[in-house]
Amino acid sequence: MKIAICGKGGCGKSTTTSLLAKELARAGKKVLVIDSDESNYGLHRQLGMELPKDFTAFFGGKQTVLQDMMLSNFAHKFFDGPWSLSDIPEGYCGEKDGVMLMASGKIHEANEGCACAMNNVIQQFIMNLQLSEDEFALMDMEAGIEHFGRGVDNGVDLLLMIVDPSFESLRLSKKIQELGESIGKPVWFVLNKVTEDTRETMLETVADAQKIAAVVPADAKVAAAGLTGTELTGSYPAIEGLARELTKGEVC
Ligand SMILES: Nc1ncnc2c1ncn2[C@@H]1O[C@H](COP(=O)(O)OP(=O)(O)OP(=O)(O)O)[C@@H](O)[C@H]1O
Ligand SMILES: [Mg+2]
Repeated sequence: MKIAICGKGGCGKSTTTSLLAKELARAGKKVLVIDSDESNYGLHRQLGMELPKDFTAFFGGKQTVLQDMMLSNFAHKFFDGPWSLSDIPEGYCGEKDGVMLMASGKIHEANEGCACAMNNVIQQFIMNLQLSEDEFALMDMEAGIEHFGRGVDNGVDLLLMIVDPSFESLRLSKKIQELGESIGKPVWFVLNKVTEDTRETMLETVADAQKIAAVVPADAKVAAAGLTGTELTGSYPAIEGLARELTKGEVC
């Protein structure tokens, strides 16, 4: 199953991706995490890994990819058929405790240009990726909804929107539900950083209460790891439950 993990900035996309990936791996699943956020550097640390080489470099690097895209009027195909997890070239993917990690690419220098090349490569990759029943790809998206505009979500089976306790996030849940519907993809919500004070309002205001896949409490240990950029360890009941539901096909 290919899952896009999306939501507004800072809602907990990377944290949820890391915790869920580790949980699925503990349950014996093969998991690929795709870092498709060109601006943030936290995900690999949460997974306890080094940042992998930009996947875009495999196709000649950002400038070459951009040229290929422009010369073909954005029709260039970087993949000539389906790819499986074992097709990911060596050096472009890290692995730890059953979790694989690849990254579309990062902005490394000022004035180096936009992220279109990286996004195009990763959009085509997810579209061509074929997984068996026991394999999961979790795609940690950049904040906001531009990825819908770029068509990245067209290649996934399911969207998990992380909703934090904020008006912006709850409002965005309606927009993401609409965008998901418009491309025929199921949208589920993970309420995150939930406290006693925010729980009720979040449950009442999220776009569809029937589609809440998990309610994850605000957790001091998670926050502390986020502050120091250290690996997330341990199990969290809400994430365990989410992994179980995904595995059983109850969230689909
Ligand atoms: N359940 C939680 N309890 C406490 N803190 C949390 C929880 N989930 C996430 N955080 C904290 O919130 C901050 C943002 O989390 P994270 O980086 O995962 O968000 P993001 O959506 O990936 O952000 P960005 O949009 O910048 O990529 C981090 O400091 C993280 O530790
Ligand atoms: Mg992030």
